[in-house]
Amino acid sequence: MLNEEIAKLLNEQINKELYSAYLYLDFSNYFEDEGLDGFAHWYEIQAQEERDHAMMIRRYLIDCGHRVTFDAIAKPDKTFKTHIDPLKAGLEHEQYVTSLISAIYAKAFSAKDFKTMQFLDWFVKEQGEEEKNAADQIKKMELFGNEPKGLYMLNQELAARTYTAPVNE
Ligand code: FEO
Repeated sequence: MLNEEIAKLLNEQINKELYSAYLYLDFSNYFEDEGLDGFAHWYEIQAQEERDHAMMIRRYLIDCGHRVTFDAIAKPDKTFKTHIDPLKAGLEHEQYVTSLISAIYAKAFSAKDFKTMQFLDWFVKEQGEEEKNAADQIKKMELFGNEPKGLYMLNQELAARTYTAPVNE
C-alpha cells in the first residue's frame, strides 16, 4: 500500500490525464472545423496517449492495493482566435502537468517511496518530450504557418503521426 497522500495525488492525476485527453480532443474538434485535418489527427492521437497515461496510473494504484475513484471531468473552456492558439494552450497545459508530476515525485521522494519514484520516472521523461513537441510545433507554426503553402505542408506533416501504445517498464 502507498502512503495515503501519495495515493490521493495519483488518483487525482488520473482525472488530470483524462481532462488532458478531453482538452486535446477539443483542440481536434477545432481543427476539424477549420479544415486542418492533419492538426486534428495529431491531437486525436495526443488524446489517446493521455487516456493511456490515465490508465497507467489507474493500474498502478490498483496493483498497489488502492481503490480508485473518479471525479467529474471538467469542460474544456479554451477559445481560439488563430491556429496557433491551441498550440500555445497545449504547451501551457503540458507545463502545468509537468508541475503536477513533479509535485507527486517530490512527495514520493520525501516519503522514501522508491517504487512510486520509479513508476513516475517514465512520466518525468514523457513530460520532457511533450513539452518539447509542443514548443517545436509553435516554432514551426511561427515560421511557416502564416502562408497557405506552409500551413498545408505542416498539416501534411502532422497527418503522418501514428499511435503507439506507451510502455512503462
Ligand atoms: Fe499526460 Fe500530456 O501529459
